Amino acid sequence: MVYTAIDTILTGRYKGKKVNVRGWIYRKRESKDTIFLVMRDASGVIQTLVKKGSPVWAKAEKATIESSIAITGTAKEDKRAPGRYEINVDTLDIIGLSETFPIAKDKSEEFLRDVRHLWLRSRRMNTIMKIRSEVLKYIHEFFDEQGFVEVSPPMFISSAVEGGATLFGLKYFDDVMYLTQSAQLHLEVLIHSLEKVYCVAPSFRAEKSRTIRHLTEYWHVESEEAFSTLDDLMSLEERLVSYVCQCVAKKCKKHLEALGLDPKELTKIKAPFSKITYDDAIQRLQKGGSKIQRGEDFGFNEERALTQEFGGPVFVYAYPKKIRAFYVKAYPDRPEVVMSADLLVPRIGELSTGGARVDDKEEMLRNLQECGLQHEDYEWYIDLRRYGTVPHSGFGMGVERLLTWMLNLESIFDSIPFPRTIRRSYP
Ligand code: 4AD
Ligand code: MG
Repeated sequence: MVYTAIDTILTGRYKGKKVNVRGWIYRKRESKDTIFLVMRDASGVIQTLVKKGSPVWAKAEKATIESSIAITGTAKEDKRAPGRYEINVDTLDIIGLSETFPIAKDKSEEFLRDVRHLWLRSRRMNTIMKIRSEVLKYIHEFFDEQGFVEVSPPMFISSAVEGGATLFGLKYFDDVMYLTQSAQLHLEVLIHSLEKVYCVAPSFRAEKSRTIRHLTEYWHVESEEAFSTLDDLMSLEERLVSYVCQCVAKKCKKHLEALGLDPKELTKIKAPFSKITYDDAIQRLQKGGSKIQRGEDFGFNEERALTQEFGGPVFVYAYPKKIRAFYVKAYPDRPEVVMSADLLVPRIGELSTGGARVDDKEEMLRNLQECGLQHEDYEWYIDLRRYGTVPHSGFGMGVERLLTWMLNLESIFDSIPFPRTIRRSYP
């Protein structure tokens, strides 16, 4: 049996023709002589109808919302039908009769998170997940076109990348291991063979904060490139973000509109982005009334103020060494400032962090010591500076932050099917 996807029927191609459709009952309405079973499948929603006197009337009466069904019928045009086409049902099979579905109208966000496994069937989540899949595809396309090799880093790691505070430890036989916070250090290994590498993989952070931008498990796009400078890196990042936004605007129009978004907004996201130094950012913030002092890190409020001022994505680079990680390279003429860049976007704040890496062995050893890290834990990482070291740079960007920003989602939770936070690990 050949089944036709609902969105194909909605194009009108099957007008007047017999179709077989399978899916779930999305809505049900009954009048004296007609039962309307609105059906959904992965592709869309269509109204079907069963007339009184039809041999399948009894089955249609029995079928409940969210029951899985298969029908055959004739597609016809009807201007009154939502989507312009509907199906006159000839045969109806109930595949799985549904118990009373717990999700009705006007349920709270909290409740919808409790029944996430069922809420994922909603048109909204269906649409977001499709865009998410497209975004991942465009990320891979972009790196492929730029000559990067996709690599698969480990998730179990033996030493911290981003500091102990957000590290998840776990028992590993008789040892302790950690869940990775970033693939960066392992990507740095691989550039000495492949030069340009990237990955899209989970990262884990023991984040206690409950914000619209933090998860404990998220998908991390990271790249690392040999012989690349901080300027090369910012150019790569802005081209990646523009590429993804332009592709989504062009190829996901229908999905964007279903979410109430105007694709034109995404077409405005074009490289090059604004770039300012940390010192410049501090001055602008102080001028705007912020109490922030030079040397301090930005919080969400500062990031928001900066993106408001620029009205779009903006890079901030050249940070004080004290507020950046041990692996970021210092400017030769300003050892207290490092070649690190954050990309900030409206509403979300930090979308990515990247930078040029320390490539000198002595500078690396000094940094590890200053940060109170045991160099025995990083022996293999230091080896990279012993054997044919090269200048290099790389960055990391959270896929969920990218989606939350692009789709103007209220919370990062809606950008991933099964969000993990300090309070939620179910379902
Ligand atoms: O700024 P972060 O901690 O930088 C790194 O991990 C670098 N080692 C990356 C690299 O250079 N390869 O994390 C990078 C990005 C952030 O900018 C943010 O987009 C995302 O990862 N991120 C999170 N996303 C969701 N929930 C969290 N708890 C996140 N923490 C970081
Ligand atoms: Mg960061």
